[in-house]
Amino acid sequence: PNRRQDRRHYDDAGAEARVEARVAAGRRGDFENTPDTDPDLPGNREWGRAIADRMAASQLGSRLVESSRIGDESALNEVVERGVAAADAWQALGADERARILIRAGERLEARRAELLEVMGSECGKTLDQGDPEVSEAIDFANYYAMLGQLLEQVDGAEYRPQKLIAVIPPWNFPVAIPAGGVLSALAAGSSVIIKPASSAARSGAVMVEALWEAGVPREVLQFVQFADRGLGSKLVADPRIDRLILTGAYETAVAFRELRRDLPILAETSGKNAIIVTPNADLDLAARDVAQSAFGHAGQKCSAASLVILVGSVATSKRFRGQLLDAVRSLEVGTPEHLETQMGTIITAPDGKLLRGLTTLGPGEQWLVEPRPLASDSPLALDGQGGNKLWSPGVRDGVQRGSEYHLTEYFGPILGIMTAKTLDEAIDLVNEIDYGLTSGLHSLDRDELALWLDRVEAGNLYVNRGITGAIVRRQSFGGWKKSAIGAGTKAGGPNYLHGLGDWADAPVRG
Ligand code: ALA
Repeated sequence: PNRRQDRRHYDDAGAEARVEARVAAGRRGDFENTPDTDPDLPGNREWGRAIADRMAASQLGSRLVESSRIGDESALNEVVERGVAAADAWQALGADERARILIRAGERLEARRAELLEVMGSECGKTLDQGDPEVSEAIDFANYYAMLGQLLEQVDGAEYRPQKLIAVIPPWNFPVAIPAGGVLSALAAGSSVIIKPASSAARSGAVMVEALWEAGVPREVLQFVQFADRGLGSKLVADPRIDRLILTGAYETAVAFRELRRDLPILAETSGKNAIIVTPNADLDLAARDVAQSAFGHAGQKCSAASLVILVGSVATSKRFRGQLLDAVRSLEVGTPEHLETQMGTIITAPDGKLLRGLTTLGPGEQWLVEPRPLASDSPLALDGQGGNKLWSPGVRDGVQRGSEYHLTEYFGPILGIMTAKTLDEAIDLVNEIDYGLTSGLHSLDRDELALWLDRVEAGNLYVNRGITGAIVRRQSFGGWKKSAIGAGTKAGGPNYLHGLGDWADAPVRG
């Protein structure tokens, strides 16, 4: 698709024609990814500059977030009841009409790209270069799931039966794309939705939901709620009228929800502790760049982030790769997101608990190659709600030992650990000893090494000679293995995702 789009001007007049073209394409199973913003265009730099300037002064309130706060069980009951009652009419629209509304939702997200970037920056510390592909991903989910919904109606001999009501509980780290993916998949599957965004990212979720309402998704079909007390989240999940739960969050959270209601099908993408293996047959320059980007993009706060790099054979013992990695990390511009040059932004709240320990203490045999430090800043975006400092420089620890706390723990912040292995087989063992299995990377130009790694490594999403974050809808469908997932095991942004959201009668599932 044409990347040379000038983001200062959204072509509103052409929207309906584009929607109709995509509805027709969807019937044929055609889909096109949405282009990210091209920052080389002077107009787009001007556009980005204006968004960044607004971030620091951005209003922290949101009328929708305030008005949607549910205080007690009877209010929650009303929301659930309204959702169930709305499902039949939504389903009766048929897949084409639902697709039309969802594709229009993609247009509204595009029209509001600047506002989404501003809110993600001010609320969650997302830099423009991290937030922009996230908006594209949300739009891709709209177009892609709309198309899958259309194709569901064409599966021969099988009847797809939508569920009435699906709950979506997303995390704060991708505050637009992950909630959008959950909501849009459930809507495309013909169900009503209740979304409860993470409280630290509720404004970003609210703008996304408003865009869907603008497109014609009825407000009773898509309901946005916040809870005044934590127990209400458990009440929502435990309610037998909830037919599916789409959850992205920590493994322990997903397990706790599963324990609440064993009969509730959950589609959960959970934690990750991900590694990139670098062999002597790697392009070391490329590997150093990809490791640094995968470890420190969005300050490492991605379930997909690289938390370990495992150096094999001569790479482990030579100074060369470490030197290149050090260069890559030291040259990262660390700052708050209203500065366009920032490459690594802030942590969601001032680090405490496990993350603070990971940033400040070393295990046996470990030493800092780059020691993380809190940085002084006069930007309001460096402070969290309690006045704590969210701005930290990245950390790289060398000498991580097999079976150590750092080897096996997810920290969810800007820290990378270096491990070494004599052989690729041993490096794969180190990866597979981790309980999680979300993303995994190999840097090698050797075919036999690639074949061995593909055969043995245990992770849901495998990347070769590329960073391990930033999955793109349809191109890299995304889902976990081992403790990185709970439930049906279908992958977001992939061809089977809607299958797990409904029931099937009379014929086997295709695909
Ligand atoms: N889908 C996100 C990524 O791939 C988590 O980085």
